[in-house]
Amino acid sequence: MGYAVAIMAKRRGARVILVSGPSSLPPPMDVHFVSVGSAREMRDAVIGYLDAATVVVKAAAVADYRPAVQARQKLKKNAGPMTIALERNPDIIAEVGDKKNGRIVVGFAMETEDLLENARAKLEAKNMDLIVANDLQEAGAGFQSETNVIRIMDREGTIESLPLMSKMDAANRILDRVKCLLAAKT
Ligand code: C5P
Repeated sequence: MGYAVAIMAKRRGARVILVSGPSSLPPPMDVHFVSVGSAREMRDAVIGYLDAATVVVKAAAVADYRPAVQARQKLKKNAGPMTIALERNPDIIAEVGDKKNGRIVVGFAMETEDLLENARAKLEAKNMDLIVANDLQEAGAGFQSETNVIRIMDREGTIESLPLMSKMDAANRILDRVKCLLAAKT
């Protein structure tokens, strides 16, 4: 979805910075492409470019945790089970929400249960303007698919439920809403 939003925003005339974790997709043409390999690198890139942004769309499914210790050598097995201690990754969009300063912030919520309740809670907690919710259990929605089924929720709690459509069309519908919010600010 992040690549679809970047491509569509570029087609609609925006200057686009795409910060991307590992992906099999080719970098889109004519966007400023920043490749990162970890949540912490993504945080540094997003915050580093924040001053240049009027709109932040945070589609990446960032891992909430990382191993507390990174092994420099191959870990040897032993007879028993193994436990890997995890620590929290930075919550990037929450930091963007804290440093919002008039920007439009759009987040995503991918859920397997209580989709709208969870989306509403995230929108509030992370100070977003819009949240794009999708249910990973729904056919044609979520990862590894050219299509999505999204609901767009705003700060008033109004929900726009969209049918199954291509990710490019879904990106356009998200950008239509962003455009309205930008227009309301001027
Ligand atoms: O809480 P959850 O991970 O489901 O929230 C999803 C939203 O938060 C997405 O917009 C995602 O890009 C963002 N996020 C983030 N940094 C994290 C985890 C999630 O920016 N460490």
